Amino acid sequence: MKTRAAVAVAAGKPVEVTEVDLEGPRDGEVLVEIKATGICHTDDFTLSGADPEGLFPAILGHEGAGVVVDVGQGVTSVRKGDHVIPLYTPECRQCPSCLSRKTNLCTAIRATQGQGVMPDGTSRFSIGKDKIFHYMGCSTFSNFTVLPEIAVAKVNSDAPFDKICYIGCGVTTGIGAVLNTAKVEAGATAVVFGLGGIGLNVIQGLRLAGADMIIGVDPNDRKRAWGERFGMTHFVNPTEVGKELVPHLVNMTKRGADQIGGGAGL
Ligand SMILES: NC(=O)c1ccc[n+]([C@@H]2O[C@H](COP(=O)([O-])OP(=O)(O)OC[C@H]3O[C@@H](n4cnc5c(N)ncnc54)[C@H](O)[C@@H]3O)[C@@H](O)[C@H]2O)c1
Ligand SMILES: [Zn+2]
Ligand SMILES: [Zn+2]
Repeated sequence: MKTRAAVAVAAGKPVEVTEVDLEGPRDGEVLVEIKATGICHTDDFTLSGADPEGLFPAILGHEGAGVVVDVGQGVTSVRKGDHVIPLYTPECRQCPSCLSRKTNLCTAIRATQGQGVMPDGTSRFSIGKDKIFHYMGCSTFSNFTVLPEIAVAKVNSDAPFDKICYIGCGVTTGIGAVLNTAKVEAGATAVVFGLGGIGLNVIQGLRLAGADMIIGVDPNDRKRAWGERFGMTHFVNPTEVGKELVPHLVNMTKRGADQIGGGAGL
């Protein structure tokens, strides 16, 4: 079939929205119509050429939500019409990592995913004879994409696509960092650097954990309102406090922070 996609043609060049060829799902794969996609800074990082694992040409995007429109042979967990979120960290529930109870970093398809291809070693995307790589196993910057069955999570059909698309990366990364990695406790004081997709979800996680003082730090003043919507209690623009940011933060908290989170890629 034909579909439209934003193709990252080369490192450092803007993406090109164009028609591409998409082969249907093979065994164990699903075809998904993407209804909404987020843009994560990691997409920009790869597009810039700084990502040592970046491959071109590729269809970027790994925060999406959509509807299953076709399934390959042997697919049992989803069917046509199901609403799904693509997963760049899939969940096969069978590999040593999935069964370890120590990590959720499924290793079933990691090798091929990192090479920009499906588990059978081939790509479903092309323009004519030229192959286009998949990205993080998702490629959500396309109206349609093909994923392994284990790389989609079925969700309620009444969940709004333009909100749930962020669950694929920003929400899980931000909230997971607070609850699973930092294990923030009720009453904590926290500083969050960078109030983008990740930082806002760190703030959301801090609220869930019951943190008291949540200081957001961002050089962009427009992020203040966003931070407040997610539960930030104080905002600091570091360009306005000059070189004295750390003493400034210590002074605000009176005793220093219990947690410092990064959403700025620092
Ligand atoms: N699983 C993961 O580990 C994972 C997942 C997603 C994103 N990331 C990384 O997290 C970082 C943030 O991603 P995002 O999508 O939220 O980015 P974003 O572009 O949406 O937000 C970045 C924010 O940082 C702010 N910022 C820039 N310089 C700053 C500075 N010196 N001090 C404080 N704030 C500053 C920007 O104004 C912006 O608001 C990126 O590096 C991204 O690659 C990691
Ligand atoms: Zn991401
Ligand atoms: Zn697994």
